[in-house]
Amino acid sequence: MTRETATTGASDILLVEGLSAHYGKVAALAPIAIRVGRGQIVTVIGGNGAGKSTLLNAIMGALPMGGHSQGSVRYLGRAVQDWEIERRVGQGMSLVPERRELFGSMSVEDNLLLGGFRLYRAGVAGWRDMLNEIYALFPRLHERRSQQAGTLSGGERQMLAVGRALMAQPQLLMLDEPSLGLAPRIVREIFQIIARLRSTGVAILLVEQNARAALQVADYGYVLETGDLVLEGEASMLAGHPRIVESYLGLGKKKD
Ligand SMILES: Nc1ncnc2c1ncn2[C@@H]1O[C@H](COP(=O)(O)OP(=O)(O)O)[C@@H](O)[C@H]1O
Ligand SMILES: [Mg+2]
Repeated sequence: MTRETATTGASDILLVEGLSAHYGKVAALAPIAIRVGRGQIVTVIGGNGAGKSTLLNAIMGALPMGGHSQGSVRYLGRAVQDWEIERRVGQGMSLVPERRELFGSMSVEDNLLLGGFRLYRAGVAGWRDMLNEIYALFPRLHERRSQQAGTLSGGERQMLAVGRALMAQPQLLMLDEPSLGLAPRIVREIFQIIARLRSTGVAILLVEQNARAALQVADYGYVLETGDLVLEGEASMLAGHPRIVESYLGLGKKKD
């Protein structure tokens, strides 16, 4: 059921069509199509090695050495697939990678302020006001604002990585497995925050192995298996789809 084109809408934030990726000669992503509408939370679920990080990196123009992609990436109606990553960031595309790269010896607050550096340098008035919004979304970061980032727990580091990305006031926030390595209680907390991000108006593309958490928070979802989309639809539909229930939600038939 994979299509290479997606239904276009005037309100698209992101429209990806015929996007494929290779590492050397090895294909990691078949030509696929996805779209993210304004204010939407869209998820791509898939197991380990399905190609989720490859997809986000290809959209961002940030594939590691040896990786290359082909196809159309339209952001806010403009073809960006040939743009440098800095230009994409400058126009409001943001990726929080799997490894939450923070400045460990700097405070939580300084890490956040660095996230707003581009706006500061561009002379955007009120760039610092975002800090209070971030603290309202993540009270834990406010409590720990003077603490060295390197001493935070895994969940707090994930919050800081998301908060730092938000400081740049992106229009498209791409999250690579925010649940990775976190205890279930912390995963719930992170996903509650992701749900609350709706109120900021940012569109979110979330890739996850944790299908349950991702489908609860998303409007629409895609299922990625070995680099190809095998299923897509409303998140509520996918959450009840037999194939998803069996393969991703751990409620499959019990062995006798
Ligand atoms: N830098 C790389 N070089 C070569 N192969 C890679 C590289 N990164 C990922 N791959 C391969 O591409 C496929 C998809 O990987 P990835 O996008 O990381 O999957 P996921 O994020 O869903 O776990 C895997 O088969 C993986 O081994
Ligand atoms: Mg990955």
